[in-house]
Amino acid sequence: MSKYISDNAKDMEFSGIRKFFNKVREVEGALSLTVGQPDFPVPPSIKEGVKRAIDENKTEYTANPGIIELREDISQYLKKFNINYSKEEICLTVGGSEALTCVFTTILNAGDKLLIPEISYPAYENCGKMRGVEVIRYPLDDEFQLDIKALEALIKEHKPKAMVLCYPSNPTGATLDISVIEELHKIIKANDMVVITDEIYSDIFYKEDYFSIAQYEDIKEKIIYVSGFSKVFSMTGFRLGYICTTKELMDAIVKVHMYMVSCAVSVVQYGTHYGFNEGLVEAKKMREEFKRRRDYVYERLINMKLDVNKPEGAFYILPSIARFNMPSEEFCERLLMEKKVAMVPGIAFGKKSDKYIRLSYAADMETLKISLDRLEEFISELDKAK
Ligand SMILES: Cc1ncc(COP(=O)(O)O)c(C=O)c1O
Repeated sequence: MSKYISDNAKDMEFSGIRKFFNKVREVEGALSLTVGQPDFPVPPSIKEGVKRAIDENKTEYTANPGIIELREDISQYLKKFNINYSKEEICLTVGGSEALTCVFTTILNAGDKLLIPEISYPAYENCGKMRGVEVIRYPLDDEFQLDIKALEALIKEHKPKAMVLCYPSNPTGATLDISVIEELHKIIKANDMVVITDEIYSDIFYKEDYFSIAQYEDIKEKIIYVSGFSKVFSMTGFRLGYICTTKELMDAIVKVHMYMVSCAVSVVQYGTHYGFNEGLVEAKKMREEFKRRRDYVYERLINMKLDVNKPEGAFYILPSIARFNMPSEEFCERLLMEKKVAMVPGIAFGKKSDKYIRLSYAADMETLKISLDRLEEFISELDKAK
């Protein structure tokens, strides 16, 4: 390793999801349930919108926080989740990823403590390391809800500067229960810390009522809401995300964002604005299809006698493989080599999740069916060999 690499960069790790995704490419004929992007095309209204923006030569820098029209769309859109931010409290970013790094850079000093879920999207730990932050994982209960008592104890012991929440969750598919969020609200109110709530899957949600810590106005100065359009509009490659927070914090965030990227891609900002409302109609259809698949995948896994929670959001499901007594990486490698189907080893989301594998059901029904048939075969062979 080169001596020129900084300590923080040395400390970071390649995403286990990506590592596995790359392995799949090397196995001919392998099916993959690894990806974190919807298998639908970008809504036609947004595609047309981006083309129109190019034709209109909207190819210059925009204002650093992004075009006012799209920030106004987002402000209106968030109201359907009972979340209130004005256009001045919104900054458009280069995907949810830049939103996260931007927020971390703005609020965390090296040596600060950051709480993240024990089973979580790999960026939180690694973006924390990028800042030289001490990352502490907080436990989740069997339903992947916050373990409130444990969280309170950790906060008391460590006095963290911030915590990350991710509901609907990648990789668990869990959403927050009202009782849990009420307790969390009390904790945040009583403690001097910030909550970074990553709700990039908010529109892929299968329950009636949506609960978010960002709905509580009385702790608004402690909340930073991170989201984006990669999932809701199935446009991961367009790289458009956003941050919402109070004006006071936002001014500092925009400063960091300005020197990181200047602004999000101009034609994507305009195109998303032009196609916004029609895009949401497509998003609704996508959500209904995801729900149908969720039901199918869940039933299949239950029939295989795997211990699994029914997801209420996102497009992931996280069954336990504990009964096979095998590290998740070995399980997934063997599944890939022996049955040609790829799923992500739980270890990619933290040491505590080694007893799980993550399936993404962002794949058509035919692919899901064949992949699950192969998993079933693999599992029954493992059971027989016991
Ligand atoms: C929970 C979560 N947050 C943020 C992101 C990053 O989103 P983007 O692709 O818009 O950078 C992802 C992507 O998979 C994610 O799953």
